[in-house]
Amino acid sequence: MSADDNKEDISGQSRQNRWLTFNVLRYNPSDPASKPRLQAYKLEDADSMTLFIALNEIREHQDPTLQFDFVCRAGICGSCAMMVNGRPQLACRTLTRNLPAETTLAPLPFFELIGDLSVNTGKWMRGMSERLQAWLHGQEVEVDPRRIEERMNPELAEQIYELDRCVECGCCVAACGTAQMRQDFVGAVGFGKIARFRLDPRDVRQDDDYYELIGDDTGVFGCMSLLACQDVCPKSLPLQTQIAFLRRKMAVTGAGL
Ligand code: SF4
Ligand code: F3S
Ligand code: FES
Repeated sequence: MSADDNKEDISGQSRQNRWLTFNVLRYNPSDPASKPRLQAYKLEDADSMTLFIALNEIREHQDPTLQFDFVCRAGICGSCAMMVNGRPQLACRTLTRNLPAETTLAPLPFFELIGDLSVNTGKWMRGMSERLQAWLHGQEVEVDPRRIEERMNPELAEQIYELDRCVECGCCVAACGTAQMRQDFVGAVGFGKIARFRLDPRDVRQDDDYYELIGDDTGVFGCMSLLACQDVCPKSLPLQTQIAFLRRKMAVTGAGL
């Protein structure tokens, strides 16, 4: 037994021999006979176990029909996001020792449900990225190779890199009250993308081009400053700062009004 085995979890219980109950919302929308229900699974806690490992254990040893997503297991691909006791978070970055003895798991709201804990965030992210033209807009003419080689101010590169850390997990959208009311809201992830390309000196677009994309209720003026997006972002991106900055800039220039 390691010394760590006797440590306590957040409820003060010893983690040794602690049993966890996962109440998982089960539903398969492609099966007409399927009805939404909670299904309980029990599993013994283990040192350094993540929620992702726990779900794999359950799928391997208890129920091979349980659906959930993962790719990287390292907080990089963003595919394992789910509602954990009502809060969106990444299963692979959630240690079971930080969970209570009983945990309820549900799929992220807002996104198309594939089944159980699996949702199609990719489809929505693609649509949002296309709508916001979230890619580098270079010059139309053949690009001068010397322009590509141009050095970028390291501080600016750092700011762009910071926003590029978004893993498109969808947690910010799942936590956002506006997004729950309107499916066409671009969400904090969308604002982050606009902010990222607006900062990039290689992008030829002007401020007005960006503001046109987000200057209505589906964009910046639909955001009610609820702040949940920043609270739940697993990458701790400065979403609120970006939203406030974009809104201020647009108010000053009169864009979208
Ligand atoms: Fe996830 Fe954060 Fe990106 Fe939103 S901004 S999709 S919460 S990483
Ligand atoms: Fe939603 Fe974040 Fe705005 S939670 S309402 S996008 S501040
Ligand atoms: Fe990739 Fe969790 S599996 S972020």
